[in-house]
Amino acid sequence: MGYSKAAEGDSPLLTDMYVLGIETSCDETAASIVKDGKNILSSVVSSSLEEHAPYGGVIPEIASRMHLESITRVVDSAIRQAKIKLKDVGLVSVTAGPGLAGSLLVGVSFAKALSLGINAPLLGVDHLSSHIYANFLSGSRPALPFVALIVSGGHTVLFYVKDLDKIDVLGSTHDDACGEAFDKVAKILKLGYPGGPVIERLAKRGDPEKLKFKCSNTDRPLDFSFSGIKTAVMYFAKKNSSRLRSPGSKLTRDIAASFQEAAIDTLIRKSFLACKMKKAGRLVIGGGVAANGRMREKFFAQAGDKGIDVYFPERKLCMDNAAMVAGLGYQLFRKGRESGLGLNIGG
Ligand code: KG4
Ligand code: ZN
Repeated sequence: MGYSKAAEGDSPLLTDMYVLGIETSCDETAASIVKDGKNILSSVVSSSLEEHAPYGGVIPEIASRMHLESITRVVDSAIRQAKIKLKDVGLVSVTAGPGLAGSLLVGVSFAKALSLGINAPLLGVDHLSSHIYANFLSGSRPALPFVALIVSGGHTVLFYVKDLDKIDVLGSTHDDACGEAFDKVAKILKLGYPGGPVIERLAKRGDPEKLKFKCSNTDRPLDFSFSGIKTAVMYFAKKNSSRLRSPGSKLTRDIAASFQEAAIDTLIRKSFLACKMKKAGRLVIGGGVAANGRMREKFFAQAGDKGIDVYFPERKLCMDNAAMVAGLGYQLFRKGRESGLGLNIGG
């Protein structure tokens, strides 16, 4: 724990500080070492995806058991790949919520034991804030304040970010998350799990204008609803089942493209509306769905006309990972945040 402190603005600048991040909120067991909140020295992700694939979605009981099996090996690999020693870790930062309770408990309990064992401070961080922080780990860093859209398998939320510890919710989904809708549409079309990447791949060879799928309206303009569009796809697929026997059929590709386009258009419309309402010139995006190439292309294409700077993390940092947990932990620790062994899961 050899970092040094220097005065910088309101919070001290901590240099040579190695933060261990631990992430177990869903089906990925991840650990990472990040130096000074920005340099990723290692980022290890072990997914239990294959175990969940036969069920078409994440099974919480399987996920927590897999975390328990993997966590020691994953943390050990992160330390070794970073070429540091456990005693060099200056802070243990762990996802405390939101997520699957049994999964979060594995990460939080491990982090507590480790922080006690190596006498390093402990900090529980919010999963969605860490997805936002993924944008500070590569490329140009967004200046504060900004509007953020986090779009993943469990969440679809618009935020106004004044600072990394001052984040207001502007709107969120009433029902399914956007990634969950991708997963359910893929299940309806018998394309396997997770749905996002396979829908994106098939959509490239489909016609996005062919079928008129649309996301439902919401009373509050910055909220989302994805369950109606998923149901519309389900009824359409039932009615046309004979033309959907082969997973790569023309109709399957057109459904994938039309669904994807409607989902992305809704994300774009609401995100830019949020920017307008908050008079924000920057829009920061994160979460697993943000890995979608078509989404990235369409956001950038429309941002220019609207005079808004759009930020996406590198693709691998869109998915659940622990580098974003370590990076955010560093910044919050600088601001004086620390959890102690009473840390509980939440969110
Ligand atoms: O952020 P993440 O790794 O885990 C959660 O916190 O949920 O997101 C996983 C979600 C899944 O629903 C997956 O289908 C979706 O992200 N996803 C995608 C793509 N890659 C992953 N959705 C659309 N297009 C993609 N290329
Ligand atoms: Zn996530």
